Amino acid sequence: MSRQSILDHLHRHEGRTVSGAELSRRLKISRAAVWKDVQALRRLGYDIQARTRSGYRLLSAPDRLLADEIARGLDTRFVGRRLYCYDTLDSTNDTAFRLGEQGVPEGACVIAEYQRKGRGRLGRVWESPKAENLLLSVLLRPRLAPAEVAKVTLAMAVSVVKTVEELAGQNVQIKWPNDVLWKGRKLCGILMEMSAESDRVNFVVAGLGVNLNTGPGALPPGSTSLAEITGSRVHRVSFVRALLRRIEKDYLRLGEGGLEELGRDWEEHSATTGHRIRAILQGRTVEGQAMGIDTDGALWIRSDNGLQERILTGDVLLDAGAVRSAASPAKRRSRK
Ligand code: BTN
Repeated sequence: MSRQSILDHLHRHEGRTVSGAELSRRLKISRAAVWKDVQALRRLGYDIQARTRSGYRLLSAPDRLLADEIARGLDTRFVGRRLYCYDTLDSTNDTAFRLGEQGVPEGACVIAEYQRKGRGRLGRVWESPKAENLLLSVLLRPRLAPAEVAKVTLAMAVSVVKTVEELAGQNVQIKWPNDVLWKGRKLCGILMEMSAESDRVNFVVAGLGVNLNTGPGALPPGSTSLAEITGSRVHRVSFVRALLRRIEKDYLRLGEGGLEELGRDWEEHSATTGHRIRAILQGRTVEGQAMGIDTDGALWIRSDNGLQERILTGDVLLDAGAVRSAASPAKRRSRK
């Protein structure tokens, strides 16, 4: 606690030196205790200058996903107001799911620097080297029927795309339902899990894995990272703050107007609509032309046998020609 107060104080006096005596007086702890806390903060990566007769000065904060760092300057109403940040855990989705079961309010976020058992969609593994990327799970309690949860998934993909555009000026695309791609290579994956009754959702956990700083050599085949795309390291704390802000905005938009407006944002960035795809569904495959999403977030396909199919879950493979370059944005086509 005193460690946090010291940090707050040094942050408030950014660039200036604060004497040990002043910190000790304000925090009502001994000067030796101040020194001990400063040492602990340095171990966390804070660069704090200590001068014998003048005091302490914060030179820089680490780009570690620490709750206090993220919370500083985060102006959301509920998304990220409760932050559970860990060095290592099995899966942020598992931890967020437990919080959901315990009744923790929506907007709570779980973040980890490393996951021992990171999970992807359809039973895949999600691997991410320690402290390079973003592993985030957001707990939400939408007033939706279970069949409508796909809408939240699409909203999350829009949030990621908008954040990447805002912070890195990069045009990225969404492969249905929620892979974020850059020139066909995966930048972000989203895993939605939910607890539901037959007619209503108790809560959903939106798990986002965003490749931010992993270098080209360490990325799985077919993936990329924002640092690889832009050629410069991403300040992860700033990225998370911007993303949480965006998630709140899009989630509120979803609550107000459903997928009408968000669906247009999704379609504008769709890497799927208008292209030949192969959809892998439970026990069968559909090949044809992707027509777009409807207001439930389902994908419509005009299959090669002439039928129009509506799919709500599954995996989509794009034909080679389907991957547009980031420089030529998608044509908008939506299906209601
Ligand atoms: C996919 O594309 O298959 C989805 C990947 C989702 C990975 C994220 S990382 C944070 C959260 N915790 C998990 O175990 N998985 C999701």
